[in-house]
Amino acid sequence: MPLTDETVVAVVGAGAMGVGIAQVAAQAGHEVHLVDAAEGAATSAREKLAATLTRLVDKGKLTSDESAGILERVIIGPAADGDLKELPPVGLVIEAVVEKLAVKHEIFGTLDDEQDESTVLATNTSSLDIGAIAADLAHPERVIGLHFFNPPPLMKLVEVVRTTQSAPEILRDAQALMERWGKTPVLCTSTPGFIVNRVARPFYGEAQRLLEAEVADAATLDFALRELGGFRMGPFELTDLIGQDVNFAVGNSVWHQSDRDPRYEPVAVQRELVEAGRLGRKTGHGYFEYAEGGQPVGVTPDEGRARELVGGPIETDPVARTIAMLVNEGVDLVRRGEATAEDVDTAMKLGTNYPKGPHEWLAEIGAATIVEQLRALDAAFPGGRYRVSPALEEQV
Ligand code: NAI
Repeated sequence: MPLTDETVVAVVGAGAMGVGIAQVAAQAGHEVHLVDAAEGAATSAREKLAATLTRLVDKGKLTSDESAGILERVIIGPAADGDLKELPPVGLVIEAVVEKLAVKHEIFGTLDDEQDESTVLATNTSSLDIGAIAADLAHPERVIGLHFFNPPPLMKLVEVVRTTQSAPEILRDAQALMERWGKTPVLCTSTPGFIVNRVARPFYGEAQRLLEAEVADAATLDFALRELGGFRMGPFELTDLIGQDVNFAVGNSVWHQSDRDPRYEPVAVQRELVEAGRLGRKTGHGYFEYAEGGQPVGVTPDEGRARELVGGPIETDPVARTIAMLVNEGVDLVRRGEATAEDVDTAMKLGTNYPKGPHEWLAEIGAATIVEQLRALDAAFPGGRYRVSPALEEQV
């Protein structure tokens, strides 16, 4: 059954992501069954959605009729408290439960047994291997990833993720559906971190290494990347906002899943923050200290130092080092056949707000310069982190 505007949707897991995804689907006109195993969680998620919609009406972004229509389409049915055997036949399930393979695998097993074989089963996992979620199912070809970004109603990007078994027509259908939901889908393979969470690793890792080497303090490195590099936020203020535990867990997961590739090796400075409970804004301190209202206190970049570093030797240039590594990651992902160059650039610009995509930087800076920079970094810091992608080597 192709995915159409009339497809009935179920969202399993009504936490931060699930409720946002349900809103997007209902806003696009779908009937959406909301399911969550925690007692009453689906009902309270729907109440939270009602409050969000009221705020959108107050701001003039929705009419009250539209808001009522969206809410009416979000259904708390007999399966709402998590019994998936009670779920009526639906055309698309989007699973957004806790990030645990065993939990997701069991849910997909039940859905595989209970739903018609044409029902598309999608997971919003950020870090698990979707092939493992689909393992042992009777119909693994209908399992795909639909990786939304937080918050789903505002973030345009959706990574449509294929396993080795996903049916091409289902992937095409899902991409078209995401476009009708007002999203920008990119297609990629289920590999650690997909596109965004993998290619972005050096944005954090390079700055952390420079901090650890005491090249500059966190505020100065943030200033360099933000004000001189054109990034929306610096890596330290950004990870304080995301949560050091969350960012560390993603990096660690990519590292482990890539057989501890030195490219993704976590940095002690962040591990220590996590162990000390300095998780960022949510705990009042991370790399920086925060006042009650969440405002950082006493952050004074040394602007002179930042200007001295940027454009200087590659080993201590936070901007050039970061960009060279982002390019290396981006081209390597394309070389491995996991996504197109265009999709990698789109994903990085929409998923992380980078001013340019890795391939745009490559075109601007040139492969020869990037290779030279990476070779210099590899000589200064041997061990494989800075090994040049064969895709870049070929271009020089
Ligand atoms: P959350 O913790 O806010 O919500 C998870 C929900 O799943 C909870 O309400 C929980 O009661 C429910 N749940 C747990 N086991 C269940 C089961 N067996 N059946 C039904 N419901 C069950 O988590 P969040 O942040 O919404 O994440 C959900 C998924 O989305 C995870 O896979 C996560 O990796 C992914 N994701 C999260 C992003 C984020 O920024 N929070 C971004 C993109 C993806």
